Amino acid sequence: MKRLRRELSCVARVDTSVLFLGESGSGKEVAARLVHVLSSRAGRCFLKVNCAALPAELLESELFGYQRGAFTGAVNSKPGRFELCQGGTILLDEIGEMPRELQAKLLHVLQDHSFTRLGGCNKIHVDVRVLAATNIDVKQAIAEKHFRVDLYYRLNTFVIRVPPLRERFEDINILLSRFLGRYALQLGVPQRTVPQSVMKDCCKYPWPGNVRELQSFAKRYLVLGEDALPWLDSGSASPCAELDSCGNGSAFIGDLKGRVRDLKDSAERVAILDALERTHWNRREAARLLNISYKSILSKIRQYGLDPPQGRMPPLRELGGEAAAIRVVAGKHPVRRAGAGAKSLTAEAGCPK
Ligand SMILES: Nc1ncnc2c1ncn2[C@@H]1O[C@H](COP(=O)(O)OP(=O)(O)OP(=O)(O)O)[C@@H](O)[C@H]1O
Ligand SMILES: [Mg+2]
Repeated sequence: MKRLRRELSCVARVDTSVLFLGESGSGKEVAARLVHVLSSRAGRCFLKVNCAALPAELLESELFGYQRGAFTGAVNSKPGRFELCQGGTILLDEIGEMPRELQAKLLHVLQDHSFTRLGGCNKIHVDVRVLAATNIDVKQAIAEKHFRVDLYYRLNTFVIRVPPLRERFEDINILLSRFLGRYALQLGVPQRTVPQSVMKDCCKYPWPGNVRELQSFAKRYLVLGEDALPWLDSGSASPCAELDSCGNGSAFIGDLKGRVRDLKDSAERVAILDALERTHWNRREAARLLNISYKSILSKIRQYGLDPPQGRMPPLRELGGEAAAIRVVAGKHPVRRAGAGAKSLTAEAGCPK
């Protein structure tokens, strides 16, 4: 992390795009914000746009704005995020989810610093530093034609990999005490410290949700104490309990083949569920994480009767026959109906009025 911090201050000084790679919750956004704060643009706007939150046409108008009459309902012209962020830094989060046609427009902005609004014909020039982040395997996405190789080469001048928490266990102690202090104040509960024995187990646990999972654990620990240990969620006594139970001969008494099949099924179910949760139920992305085909993951989801949590919808491109949820505006702009489960686009502060 010290090396990462040094890298961040070096790239901050060079006014170029940066691609942040790393697992979900590992701290890519924290790193991107630091680059902005350490850069010459620090006094200007920092905007984050979540590219996975909106379907292509909405994302296009959000990023590049639109002219009055560009589509039904466009009663006034509206500037996009790139215009609003003039002089500042924009973070394109989850860029791996950006539709291919928009990737081409983005490439153009990166090369020429100009674009046209949706339905417009005037070129707009912008001076915006583009940072991008993703938790997908970009090379695989390129191979599968989800991500444009020319955009990748434009972005990869500086690639910063934020390591997952399991590769930096020394950070757990520092982060955990920080979070316990912060959340005790926020929640109005007494401060707690983590005993050495629990800290040891924390260092064996793989933290698939990374720092975000550690934050949730800190909150639960303040309220529930040791009942909050994340490896208890699965009913195990410690991170190594599953291995221990395999070493316990009694687990294998009876029909060995059946027992092995059950264990395999249950491991497969847990792995699929974990991948789906990590990708916010994006089945394509989950299949990629698991290195299985899209067809296989759909069939496993059916086989194990897995359901997305209430209120969460699959991404539009996966809706297929459920496309009734999509309304076509002006014959060509599919828009997800309000309340149909689209995550809200996150755009954040720091903008001078
Ligand atoms: N080094 C750190 N110190 C303190 N908090 C951190 C650190 N790294 C991450 N966090 C916190 O962990 C949470 C997740 O971090 P962040 O949003 O940067 O992750 P991410 O890699 O962008 O995740 P995702 O891929 O899901 O968008 C945030 O609440 C952030 O504040
Ligand atoms: Mg992020």
